Amino acid sequence: MEIAKTKDSELMEKIVSLCKRRGFVYPSSEIYGGFAGVYDFGPMGVELENNLKAHWWKWMVHKRQDIVGLDSCIFMNPKIWEASGHTKGFSDPLAECKNCNTRIRVDKVLEEIGVKADEKMSEEEINRLFDENKNKIKCPKCGKQNFTKARKFNLLVKSNLGDFTEAGTAPSYLRGETCQGIYVNVKNVLDSGHMKLPFGIAQIGKAFRNEIAPRQFLFRTREFEQMEMQYLTKPDQEMIEYEKLREYRFKAIVSLGLKEENLKWHKHDNLVFYAKEAYDIEYNYPWGFDEMEGVHARGTYDLTQHSKGSGQELTYQDPETNEKFIPHIIESSIGVGRLFLAVMCDAYTEDVMNEETRVYLKFKPSIAPVKVAVFPLLKNKPELVSKAKHIFEVLNEEIYPIVFDDNGNVGKRYRRQDEIGTPFCVTVDFDTIEKDDTVTVRDRDSGKQERVAVKELVNYLKSKLA
Ligand code: GAP
Repeated sequence: MEIAKTKDSELMEKIVSLCKRRGFVYPSSEIYGGFAGVYDFGPMGVELENNLKAHWWKWMVHKRQDIVGLDSCIFMNPKIWEASGHTKGFSDPLAECKNCNTRIRVDKVLEEIGVKADEKMSEEEINRLFDENKNKIKCPKCGKQNFTKARKFNLLVKSNLGDFTEAGTAPSYLRGETCQGIYVNVKNVLDSGHMKLPFGIAQIGKAFRNEIAPRQFLFRTREFEQMEMQYLTKPDQEMIEYEKLREYRFKAIVSLGLKEENLKWHKHDNLVFYAKEAYDIEYNYPWGFDEMEGVHARGTYDLTQHSKGSGQELTYQDPETNEKFIPHIIESSIGVGRLFLAVMCDAYTEDVMNEETRVYLKFKPSIAPVKVAVFPLLKNKPELVSKAKHIFEVLNEEIYPIVFDDNGNVGKRYRRQDEIGTPFCVTVDFDTIEKDDTVTVRDRDSGKQERVAVKELVNYLKSKLA
């Protein structure tokens, strides 16, 4: 996996290694030599991922009477991608090293040397900038400075779904973004519910892009998940709602426990012709601030395009004034992988405990993959093991997920739970059995232990985890 060499690449390497070691993220298809640009989430990763998605859904659907959920398909009529402009305009400029055939994304390479370029530039414009700066650009693999011309490469991933012709002439696409499934269901949602403007439709789902240069672990992958919300407004309300959405999304991100100093807004200078305003929430990844979420004011572009493409009227009639118009759209869009990586980077902590360096993930308890671990002090004492198992069963009715662990000594178990970010470890010892029916509860961050009565344990842990 490629990791840019920066002063913090060591941190990134530690996080990638922890992700593999503790079952958060595995490289895809590893036993077959891997598969570039895709990753699998392991037992801890899937819990964390689900917690992040549940948090988003809570903030974007359950807490809001004006937003409803949707789950549209990955495959859609290919005409959708023509109408949206993706079959023509959704491309990145690619050049190849003539010496070692390494491919580079020219706009990103130009950006790295301080030359403003973006994916919306024409092939000629990009090649002009590329030519002017060729002496400053080296192949990241062999270091030579001999590249082909930049060529625009479409990012949509094609499939042969439903195409039974020999020549394979009618590709369908794996969706490149989830929001198109929202736009084409606006009419259905309006017809089947009682939504009045302004209202939003939210969706979480997979998206696929033929990224030329997948990079930085989960940051840019070829298969990823998006959490997108499209909010429909009256024309004169678009920018008022946009400001409200920006504020709301920032609050939602902060409520995950991310440090505010690692977050900032970035305003887009080059807007696409239909956009009114575009901001990204950037996170301070180990290589510096980079896009985590986009919050964009898109005007009527999306619904106008789908109205033209489908021949269906996608207007809204104001029930009070009877005025008909195409709703304006503001969107928030964040990749689960980018949020996951930000949360891992933010939580990763090293300190010294008992004269040893310790690594722990300082997750907010609500997103920690495991909430509580229960141990018997010694695994070869049946009375300790059976009491610990009993406590585990009782807790497991009330708090989840929790784990029972009797592998290795207690010190090793603490280290293991620290590395997956478990907020509390409960240990059953001889005092539990012989003295006062209390257990020790160890706090992940301070390492301090408190004795808590077994009969108080559920309430004690619930209040600490809340
Ligand atoms: N509907 C708008 C849209 O898709 P985008 O900026 O292309 O806009 C939105 O993507 C978000 O999706 C990004 O801010 C990022 O969090 C995530 N994302 C985009 N491409 C990605 C990739 N290749 N790998 C991981 N996440 C990606």
